[in-house]
Amino acid sequence: MRVIAVVNQKGGVGKTTTSVNLAHALALGGKKILAIDLDPQGNLSTSFGVSDPLVNGLDEVLLDGVDINDMCLNVRESLDIIPAGKRLGELEFEKQGGADRGFRLNKALTRLTYKPDFVIIDCPPSAGLVGMNGLLAANELMLPVASDFLSMQGITRMMGIVNHVESTLKFSTKKCFVVTRFQGRRKLAKDVKEKLISLFPKKVLETSIRENVTLAESPSFGKTIFDYKRLSNGGKDYLSLANDVLKNKMATNNYE
Ligand SMILES: Nc1ncnc2c1ncn2[C@@H]1O[C@H](COP(=O)(O)OP(=O)(O)OP(=O)(O)O)[C@@H](O)[C@H]1O
Ligand SMILES: [Mg+2]
Repeated sequence: MRVIAVVNQKGGVGKTTTSVNLAHALALGGKKILAIDLDPQGNLSTSFGVSDPLVNGLDEVLLDGVDINDMCLNVRESLDIIPAGKRLGELEFEKQGGADRGFRLNKALTRLTYKPDFVIIDCPPSAGLVGMNGLLAANELMLPVASDFLSMQGITRMMGIVNHVESTLKFSTKKCFVVTRFQGRRKLAKDVKEKLISLFPKKVLETSIRENVTLAESPSFGKTIFDYKRLSNGGKDYLSLANDVLKNKMATNNYE
C-alpha cells in the first residue's frame, strides 16, 4: 500500500486538483484507491461531487476514534474517499494526547480492513496539527509546485519544515515534486522547473501539469477532469502523471 500525502503549506498550488485527478487516473488504470480529504475546506470531497458538510467524515475518526472503515464512501469505480467532515478543523485545538495527536491518521490507516493500492491524502495549506497528521501517515510525499517565483521560494521553506519533522522524529519518507500550472511559453516557468530539478535531482516528476482552464472548471460540476473533459490537456497531463507515479519516472535537466 503506497500512502502518498500531497503537501505544501503554500495555498493554491494545485494540491487538491492533483489529489483528485491523480486518484481518478490511477483508479481508471485499475488500481484500488482511497483518497482522504485532510483539509477542513473539504475541497477534495466537493470535487468528487460529495457535499462535505452533509456527510460523516474523517473528523469523527480523528476526534472521536470512530472506525475508519465506516467512513469510506465509494465515489467512482475502484475509488473511495473519506470526506473531511465539518469538525476536522477542531483538531488544531486538541489538547489531549500529547505527541500522539500527530499520529492519529497513521494509526487509523493501520486499521483499514481492505488494502487499497494507493492512499492519497489531500493536505491543508498549513503546517498545523491537521497537516502534521498527513506528513506522519504517509510513506511518500508529493509536493506540487506552481511554476512561479513565489512558489519556488515557498518550497524551500516547506522542505525545511519537512526535514525538521523527519530529523526530530527520526524517520524519512520518499519525496517527489510535481510542477503545476505550467505555462510552457513562459521563460519563468521553464526556469522554475530547471531550478527545481537542480535543487532536487531525480525527484521532480517528468510530467508537468499545464495551466488548463478545464481543470479549474470541473470541480464546480462535482466532476474530475476524466468525468468532465478527459481529452483536454488537463486529462492528458494527469494520465501521464499517474504513469510517472507508477513507473517512478523523473525529469532530467534536458526535459524539453
Ligand atoms: N493546472 C491548472 N490549470 C488551471 N487551473 C488550475 C490548475 N491547477 C489548479 N488550478 C486551479 O487553481 C486553484 C487552486 O488549486 P487547488 O485548489 O488544487 O490548490 P490547493 O493547493 O489545493 O489550494 P489550497 O491550498 O487552498 O488547498 C483552483 O481554483 C484550481 O481549480
Ligand atoms: Mg486544497
